[in-house]
Amino acid sequence: MRNLLRALPILLLSLGLQSTTLTAQGNTAPHLEKRGVAIQLFVDGKPFLMLSGELQNSSSSSLEYMKPIWPKLKALGLNTVVTPLSWELIELQEGQFDFKLVDGLLDQARHENERIVFLWLASWKNGKSSYAPAWVKQDTRRFPRVVVNGNPVEILSPQGAATQAADAHAFAALMKHLKEVDGRDHTVLMMQVENEVGVLGDARDHSEAANKAFASAAPDQLTQYLQAHHASLYPDLKDLWDAHGAKTAGTWTEVFGDSERADEIFMAWQYARYIHAVARAGKAEYDIPMYVNTWLEGENTPPGDYPSGGPEPPVLDVWKAAGPGLDFYSPDLYASNFVEWCRRYHRDGNPLYMPETRGEEAGAANVFYALGEEAGFGFSPFAIESEASETDPLGESYKAIAAVTPLLLEHQAAGDVRGFVLDQDRPSVDFTINGVTLHVSLDDIFGTRSASGFGLIMVTGENEFLGVGKGFRVTFTPRSDSGQRLGIAAVDEGTFDDNKWVPGRRLNGDEDDQGAAWRFDSRHVKTEKVTLYQFE
Ligand code: DGJ
Repeated sequence: MRNLLRALPILLLSLGLQSTTLTAQGNTAPHLEKRGVAIQLFVDGKPFLMLSGELQNSSSSSLEYMKPIWPKLKALGLNTVVTPLSWELIELQEGQFDFKLVDGLLDQARHENERIVFLWLASWKNGKSSYAPAWVKQDTRRFPRVVVNGNPVEILSPQGAATQAADAHAFAALMKHLKEVDGRDHTVLMMQVENEVGVLGDARDHSEAANKAFASAAPDQLTQYLQAHHASLYPDLKDLWDAHGAKTAGTWTEVFGDSERADEIFMAWQYARYIHAVARAGKAEYDIPMYVNTWLEGENTPPGDYPSGGPEPPVLDVWKAAGPGLDFYSPDLYASNFVEWCRRYHRDGNPLYMPETRGEEAGAANVFYALGEEAGFGFSPFAIESEASETDPLGESYKAIAAVTPLLLEHQAAGDVRGFVLDQDRPSVDFTINGVTLHVSLDDIFGTRSASGFGLIMVTGENEFLGVGKGFRVTFTPRSDSGQRLGIAAVDEGTFDDNKWVPGRRLNGDEDDQGAAWRFDSRHVKTEKVTLYQFE
């Protein structure tokens, strides 16, 4: 009975009974769906894990330039390519759209059986407005700029109603076109709306329109949201709002205090309002997941040093309050405290997807943590074409994860998969799954310790675990105080062929430290199963 109860969540999931919405029909557009404890991307009626990479900013502006890149990305193990697409290249003259580049990129992707996430580089990219068409840049009256230190800068002001309307118009035209040319094939999975938005050089826009808005009342929509979601607000925002009396009415400084924090919250509201509107216009034409990415703040840097108003964790609630329109928010995660940043974004209904992060050795390790521990539905190192070689460590990780993807998606939903990255500063981690405590540490054999390790572990049966990774070892203890001990009955390496486990060598002797530990040596990413037995 106990075994049946344990197996029940997996059983229900495989029957599709735990989804909160009905399982999508074959031709339903890509969408996010809560499944068990995870939010997953559904494509053609099935959950989809994006093993992707983001192109450098200018590569996808030329089909010719891209031609040799697609096969390399395929060989690296990518199933999705995060691809810039700019406003300036589709609406050269106001109202005249040219989708040749879009269609060409779709053709090239389909030829390699790749999916695409498009980055809509329009009003803002890295805070600046360099991707707006020249007819927008030139008309500073109709499309006003942010003012910093008394001067207009090359950043379109989110106060600009005409700018918002023009961006939304172009985005809607793009989404209409995508529905026409891709509404059946679903090559395009999601849209990122703008890129790393926020004011640089100051904590807020000081244009006349912005000053006027800042001196006015903070919107009821925002304060009511803060009130309704008080318990789950990001701690910094909750503390700040509480410290100023948790007011539901007042000017921005009355509600949030007279500091750069209030400036940042004000800018977050302005950008969020604008971008939700652009996203809504696009979704009205073709409704697929849309998100905004974030240039992450430093641990002690003031807003303006990083783009002020982007969806940083302390203002994520402000972005949510300004919705609906966007489905989720993402970190561009280059910081060294990878685990901590993942947690800051994977919270309160926001799923983890990373459009930009480090690749190579770091990415090869971090992808296991993001997808295994934080139920991420996609991972995407930046400048992917520069590391597209078949021997790349990222490719090795991607290929190993691709082989276990159906299983991993089931276990993400059931909540019984764990992922980890280990190094000298964090040499071990303990966790309990299915009544068994696993002590995972850097591999160590005959006095030689691995410098780093990473992997993920899932429960695949009573006393059976499947692991993928390298450079670690695992020992087991029963959680309860039953007096029982757990030993290793068998370790097999193996592969999956069409989702069927194909065992290879039986690993024993040095390979499992004479039965003392389930080992993954530090040479290659491997997939192994362990079976345990109990003894007194
Ligand atoms: C973050 C941006 O979003 C990318 O477009 C690119 O400029 C990288 N930084 C450069 O590292």
